[in-house]
Amino acid sequence: MTKQITVLPGDGIGPEVVQAAEKVLRAVGETFNHEFTFQYAPIGGEAIRKHENPLPEATVEACKTADGVLLGAVGHPDFDHLPGSERPEAGLLGIRKALGLFANLRPVSGHESLNDASTLKREVIDGVDLMIVRELTGGLYFGEPKERREAGGEEEAVDTLSYRRSEIERIARQAFELAKVRRSHVTSVDKSNVLETSRLWQEVVEEVAKEFPDVTLEHMLVDNAAMQLIRDPKQFDVMVTENTFGDILSDEASMLTGSLGMLPSASIGSDGPGLYEPVHGTAPDIAGQSKANPLATIASAGMMLKYSFGMIDEAQAVENAVQAVLTEGLRTGDIAGEGEAVATTEEMTEAVVRHV
Ligand code: NAI
Ligand code: MG
Repeated sequence: MTKQITVLPGDGIGPEVVQAAEKVLRAVGETFNHEFTFQYAPIGGEAIRKHENPLPEATVEACKTADGVLLGAVGHPDFDHLPGSERPEAGLLGIRKALGLFANLRPVSGHESLNDASTLKREVIDGVDLMIVRELTGGLYFGEPKERREAGGEEEAVDTLSYRRSEIERIARQAFELAKVRRSHVTSVDKSNVLETSRLWQEVVEEVAKEFPDVTLEHMLVDNAAMQLIRDPKQFDVMVTENTFGDILSDEASMLTGSLGMLPSASIGSDGPGLYEPVHGTAPDIAGQSKANPLATIASAGMMLKYSFGMIDEAQAVENAVQAVLTEGLRTGDIAGEGEAVATTEEMTEAVVRHV
């Protein structure tokens, strides 16, 4: 197969980790006889520096015409003084919206040898394997009105939480489809004891559940879910939730495995290319020093193979290669224990390439 991949390196360690993932994808291409071509486009701080715009139109076009998009990360302290709509992060929100990426998938599973890197007890996290499905284009982050105004003689700020039936339906369906090929259990997370949007959410999820008789559905209030993730994370298979709750719970869940440097994500829409990116940010503290752990981005590229290209064996080969380098004991600084040798970004990448 021939696939066109648009790469958005972004800022900080972004360029280092996408370069690593490109190498791994090229190795997959060679091994499995596919032709992957790569086109680079600026986003975030890089795009502000070059084009005074965190998301140039040409970047959006390059993404829309691709089969898959691989993103590093965006954001740099240099731009912290800019208003929200001009900051690097606006590039990220903008591209998600432009590609209609309504579902954010974050798998969380560890590697036995890394359990000690977590702050939680080994017996709590050993064997954790869950997937958070976060609604990405609705809710509080996009609802209108979103403004400052005057109320009763003082300043007031307002954000709006709204969801349409169709928005809930498509994200719920996504969660059930995933559960079908996992352990057939969906936990829908809401705050239906106080929020009207959550009551609609629950109704719609119940309706969608009828299409999937083999999948068990459970509802959980978000505050309880936050607690259960720490108390007993192994009870979860697929968790589906709205934008804000998903943002918070997925960061919480990411810590079950010990390092941000390990976690991939996929954002997908109903048609057009998916966007694949590590969960971590631009890590300005280690940028340009070959210290970045490339595994989250490499695993994200693996998700692209699976969810955008339907290349199941190829995706498995990437997953296996990542597990193999960890088993061998290779460690970047973020996952190295006391006194363990530290590998560079390149050494880690070459090892994965070798296993692929
Ligand atoms: P961060 O994820 O960039 O860094 C947090 C800590 O984890 C740092 O100590 C960093 O060195 C370490 N770290 C992160 N990724 C790593 C990797 N691959 N290998 C080794 N160590 C790693 O989060 P922080 O510091 O809150 O944000 C820094 C910048 O990144 C900000 O401008 C923020 O807005 C942006 N950011 C962007 C995201 C995105 O593009 N999706 C997500 C989160 C933050
Ligand atoms: Mg977040």
